[in-house]
Amino acid sequence: MEESRQKKYNNPFTATLTGIRDLFRKQTPAGELKPTDRLDGLTVLVDGASSGLGFAIAVDVARRGARVIMACRSGIPGKGERVKKLSGNQEIYMLQVDFSEINSIKALVEKLSSPSLFGDGAGGGPSKGIIDIFICNAGIVPKQSRKTAQGLEEMFMVNYFSKFIFVNLLLQNQCFSSPEHNEISDRKSKIPRIIFIASESHRNPEKFDWDEFGIYHDYKIGKSIELYGYYKLLLTTFSVELSRRLNPNGETNFSVFSMCPGPVNSNIAREAPKVFIPLLKIVFGVFFKSPAKAAIPVVYLSASSDVAAKPFDYLFLMSRKEVDIKASDPGNGKRLWKLSEELWQRVCGNHPRKSA
Ligand SMILES: NC(=O)c1ccc[n+]([C@@H]2O[C@H](COP(=O)([O-])OP(=O)(O)OC[C@H]3O[C@@H](n4cnc5c(N)ncnc54)[C@H](OP(=O)(O)O)[C@@H]3O)[C@@H](O)[C@H]2O)c1
Repeated sequence: MEESRQKKYNNPFTATLTGIRDLFRKQTPAGELKPTDRLDGLTVLVDGASSGLGFAIAVDVARRGARVIMACRSGIPGKGERVKKLSGNQEIYMLQVDFSEINSIKALVEKLSSPSLFGDGAGGGPSKGIIDIFICNAGIVPKQSRKTAQGLEEMFMVNYFSKFIFVNLLLQNQCFSSPEHNEISDRKSKIPRIIFIASESHRNPEKFDWDEFGIYHDYKIGKSIELYGYYKLLLTTFSVELSRRLNPNGETNFSVFSMCPGPVNSNIAREAPKVFIPLLKIVFGVFFKSPAKAAIPVVYLSASSDVAAKPFDYLFLMSRKEVDIKASDPGNGKRLWKLSEELWQRVCGNHPRKSA
């Protein structure tokens, strides 16, 4: 089993074929996203919302009545204006962030904690605790390794480590809503939700490489897909451990969800070698899901009462699955958390306060 998975995502070709094959497999849906699943009165933060899946999620949650904060590296203000137009919802806000830069993540958290976030600071609601649903989406598949300002590898930073830092800073700064503050009357629906866009490729790596955690290595495109799966394993392991830490006594304080949208016709392959791009465009256009369709399970996890008050869930498309056993192992979760905190201390020079 491990060996056959090993071949599935080791290079761009097998990863694409695996994605297409998975789309045609029979799935048992976990539930259904209904038009009545509304988000009125709730604030949704979605990052990587300038393109592909993140943009489609922003449009869908805006149509369901949410106030939407799009945290984006590019596309400001154009993409937000487009979401307003497509959804008819004017409560769309855009904030700039580059997840390869720790200072940019800190600045984003500061803005999210600011009383003037929604304008005058008085009419915009409480300055703290505004986020009801956070969709942690940004991701890359680079054509080669690149070093960040802190000397980390960019894909490690964007696809995993920035998310560890960002979520912990949001928690430390009390950026999530508390059930007393939002307008929904049902207690279960008031519980904040954190949704990670992961990937089935998290099952691909045979094991964790703890000794190499956070260490920069050069690589080329051939290794990029393999590492993408490894960083999605780190992300999925983090999501399970986060749920454990946020919900220690059997009562759900936060719902933490992780999911794989399946293959999406997005801009994810933008760094693929130029000669393959025309072919990839055809394959993506014919076989992959449109971002709007791929967004459905994400919006289901955001809006459906079916999953309200669940401490953890994992969906592949609309099907419920167990995460890989490596990701659910509490020993691995604990070790990843410790190494991530140590790395944060090393690159920032100060120890992160413990929150979760
Ligand atoms: N496409 C698939 O087949 C597929 C399958 C499984 C999982 N996923 C996951 O789905 C998520 C969304 O990807 P997508 O397919 O929609 O790809 P996409 O169209 O390329 O969108 C990626 C988003 O991430 C943003 N981003 C990249 N680097 C960033 C950085 N340093 N700081 C801030 N934002 C950054 C991009 O911003 P810019 O526009 O400014 O570059 C863009 O908004 C990713 O986590 C991906 O791993 C995708």
